[in-house]
Amino acid sequence: MNEKIRENFPFLKRKINGKSIIFLDNAASTQKPRVVINALKDFYENHYANIHRGLYKLSQEASEMYEEAHDKVAKFINADGREEIVFTKNTTESINLVAKSLNLSKGDEVIVTEMEHHSNLVPWMMLKDKGVILKYLKVNENGEINIDNLNEMLTKKTKVISTVHISNFLGTINPVKEIGRIAKEKGITFIVDGAQSVPHMPIDVKKIGCDFLAFSSHKMCGPTGIGVLYGKKEKLEELSPFLGGGDMISEVDYNQYKVNKLPWKFEAGTANIADGYAFGVAIDFLSKIGMEKIWAHEQKLIKYALEELQKIEEVVIYGPKEWSKRGGLVSFNISGLDCHDVAAILDSKYNICVRSGHHCTMPMHKKIGINGSVRASLYLYNNLNEVEKFVNAVKEIAEMVN
Ligand SMILES: Cc1ncc(COP(=O)(O)O)c(C=O)c1O
Repeated sequence: MNEKIRENFPFLKRKINGKSIIFLDNAASTQKPRVVINALKDFYENHYANIHRGLYKLSQEASEMYEEAHDKVAKFINADGREEIVFTKNTTESINLVAKSLNLSKGDEVIVTEMEHHSNLVPWMMLKDKGVILKYLKVNENGEINIDNLNEMLTKKTKVISTVHISNFLGTINPVKEIGRIAKEKGITFIVDGAQSVPHMPIDVKKIGCDFLAFSSHKMCGPTGIGVLYGKKEKLEELSPFLGGGDMISEVDYNQYKVNKLPWKFEAGTANIADGYAFGVAIDFLSKIGMEKIWAHEQKLIKYALEELQKIEEVVIYGPKEWSKRGGLVSFNISGLDCHDVAAILDSKYNICVRSGHHCTMPMHKKIGINGSVRASLYLYNNLNEVEKFVNAVKEIAEMVN
């Protein structure tokens, strides 16, 4: 199946110095299939107008195309329709929206894990001035959290649990269904950062039992500048809008305003119309292939990568050592080498794109006692041949230090 999928990505034909590129930085952002690129061009050439404003046919058509993208996202994650899907700029904005709108007050407690991306840390830290208390669920040496520890941390003041589903540094798959069950029992708002899970595996918000789920289009074959905040209808209704302006109101006079219906209540100002539409096309593309298939493919590749990398003596791997506990990414270091040097050699000598540094999980890197790591992250268009080349390149680089 993989070779057919690869044909959809013009990028894979790109060469640097006459050699193909092996793109293993998919956790940062993914390449785009031809249908998405064409959808953007078609939208701007044939359908473009501002939405929710004009009575003319073109504006109505553009509005429908943008709105339907919300329906596609809702179906993709098994939400109850477009009312539960707010388009934001990215995962970061989605989490900020919830953190800013929940109206937490002095003494309220928020629990996050130690492995969070900065975008699920800093928005909560920003509430410290209001007296909101941030508590960290410990991550053990295998890069996992323990549900018993979570239970021990809960108090009557716990208002929010917000956790990453798949860690963008450790690769760990967190037990979100179990957390969802606990949160529901205790009446705690449960937020899931799905930036690294929604693009890669089948997601059902009802099965997870979350109140909110955040993710980004650009990490799942869609354009940059579009993110999603899924929220249970009743939860979104309780929240006050984060931004005020056009489109988020139904009525305004000099003294007051009435908010618009969901989800537009949270989409103030002119939306990112074309990118929103093209995101819907990306969702169609992924759905047609099937998320089960994509997940199975990545699992096969990560199993190989993890097992082979573990055979290299100089390589230190972070996160669970068992492939079945991970998403399709692996972070590591080569003893004696700086992570940026390893990434630079992979790029200059092998045309392999990986990320190096702290991957926006600085506290977790500090806890382990490292400044950074090299991260290889996979997606549906990567194949075994590429992963073999990557592992061999790491082997050769590791031999250089001996
Ligand atoms: C787990 C996780 N959360 C949040 C984000 C932030 O995503 P964005 O930059 O699209 O807002 C990322 C991006 O790498 C991520 O990996």
